[in-house]
Amino acid sequence: MKVLVTGGAGYIGSHTVRRLLEEGHEVVVIDNLEKGHRTSLDQGVNFYKGDIRDSAFLNTVLDKESGIEGCIHFAAYSQVGESMEKPIKYYDNNVSGSVNLIKFLLLHGIKKIVFSSTAAVYGEPEEIPIKENSAVCPVNTYGETKLSVESLIRRSGSAYGFKYVILRYFNACGAHPNGDIGEDHDPETHLIPLVLKAAGSRKKDVTIFGTDYDTEDGTCIRDYIHVMDLADAHIKALLYLAKGSKSQTINLGLGRGFSVREIIDSAKRVTGRDIKVIEGKRRKGDPAVLVASNEKAREILSWEPYYTEIDSIMETAWKWHKGHPKGYNETIKDYLSNFF
Ligand code: UFG
Repeated sequence: MKVLVTGGAGYIGSHTVRRLLEEGHEVVVIDNLEKGHRTSLDQGVNFYKGDIRDSAFLNTVLDKESGIEGCIHFAAYSQVGESMEKPIKYYDNNVSGSVNLIKFLLLHGIKKIVFSSTAAVYGEPEEIPIKENSAVCPVNTYGETKLSVESLIRRSGSAYGFKYVILRYFNACGAHPNGDIGEDHDPETHLIPLVLKAAGSRKKDVTIFGTDYDTEDGTCIRDYIHVMDLADAHIKALLYLAKGSKSQTINLGLGRGFSVREIIDSAKRVTGRDIKVIEGKRRKGDPAVLVASNEKAREILSWEPYYTEIDSIMETAWKWHKGHPKGYNETIKDYLSNFF
């Protein structure tokens, strides 16, 4: 199948592209490389550097790449904190960009989309585990922009016969088991990479954001889902749409939560290193517990997470981090070559 992947050089995008290629699909990637990394993409990808808000660019790519059957749409800004400070930036890229993309997909007769949404659409959940029909009420701009695009896609479904699978991810984590692609955000705000950075350095520490939550050990509980399991779900969703099946909105999570302290303990076990921990204040907008119900993904997509143990997830993240302490900018070999 020929697939267009927007934001294919990003964290989840690059792992999905790798899996698509492994399964023999033809892949066209568009990415403006503002956050993505060109080096995260394998040979064999038809890569176009450009922005989904740029109509002329989209038109050129879609004219040239005839025969695309479906699109996996990742391209978006995704930092919750920044989204609160810069709502226009987030609405412009995430919402206006998606409006433009969908317009050009339709103009080129591409009517299947797998959309990268988020558990942030649920806000403070009313029930745990969170089901797809639980109330949506985002508490940050990032979640709001993703929910807006969900609505746009559903409306486009009714109006233009667009078929979609909306995937709401919980906490994406881990790296390709080869250790050659992984998580590299600038700035890094996510727990696991920050914990591993602290494990890899005597100078760095990690702050626990709140130890007074109403949970067993007082720290927040999240549902950590491996990036390769997310990648698999995207491909299953695309194949599901290719069979002509009906549009869906589906959670992607492990269905099980780990506390911040449990994550730090796992990192200590896996790295064999001590980690300096500071017990800090709560971060604004963090719900105590976010855990997915993944029944629908299992039932409809026949998807099942492969990485079910936190230590095996952590091992893949550590392998990537050890080989790339500075992310894509510098490998350990480059780093050592400064000294020898
Ligand atoms: N945390 C710390 N210290 C840190 C960083 C995080 O204690 O230095 C805690 C947070 O308070 C939270 C947990 O670790 O309880 C996970 O935090 P992350 O920042 O790694 O992830 P979030 O749960 O905040 O966000 C993730 C995605 C978002 C998505 C959201 C959906 O990164 O894109 O889940 O709920 F919107």
